[in-house]
Amino acid sequence: MTTIAIIIGCAIVAVIGIGVIIGGAPFVPTRKKWTVDAMKLANVGADDVVVDLGSGDGTILIAALESNAKRAIGYEINPLLVVWSRLRLRQFKKRTTIKTGNFFRAKLPTDTTVIYLFQVEKVLRKIPKFIDQQRADLKTKKLRVVCFGAEIPGKKFLRELGGMSLYEF
Ligand SMILES: C[S@@+](CC[C@H](N)C(=O)[O-])C[C@H]1O[C@@H](n2cnc3c(N)ncnc32)[C@H](O)[C@@H]1O
Repeated sequence: MTTIAIIIGCAIVAVIGIGVIIGGAPFVPTRKKWTVDAMKLANVGADDVVVDLGSGDGTILIAALESNAKRAIGYEINPLLVVWSRLRLRQFKKRTTIKTGNFFRAKLPTDTTVIYLFQVEKVLRKIPKFIDQQRADLKTKKLRVVCFGAEIPGKKFLRELGGMSLYEF
């Protein structure tokens, strides 16, 4: 019994904790109601390619695809969450990709139009530079960025809804 409890405990710590070890947010999914607000705020539709930087269990990717986004791409450092989110998104297989690893090392799809972030301020602070580095390869001139829970330091947002803010880059 004790062994099972220890295994379950370790699994929970592993699922929640990996993001924190690398200095990002721990795993906490955006609640369903707020995912709808996020899609509304960014006005996600059929022309959009939505990227979730730290995609957790795929909750935002599902919301994007249910809002008719063309594609949804997730980057997640925690392999357990990658496996789980791929399972959750199996019905959308043709329209979604979930990559394992640190998103700061990723090259975003060139047709990205919307980025979602539920991250800590320390991570958000690095986002303007990260987007600048990708800029030359991005087709869209106006990237919409939705942040949940915290604001991007030093950057003015366009609109707010619930605990989310919308930025344009
Ligand atoms: C607060 S959760 C948000 C999950 C999901 N985006 C949502 O809103 O439901 C943050 C996630 O980002 C992941 N994460 C943190 N830093 C990361 C990084 N640098 N690269 C990839 N994933 C990261 C964590 O493992 C965690 O699953």
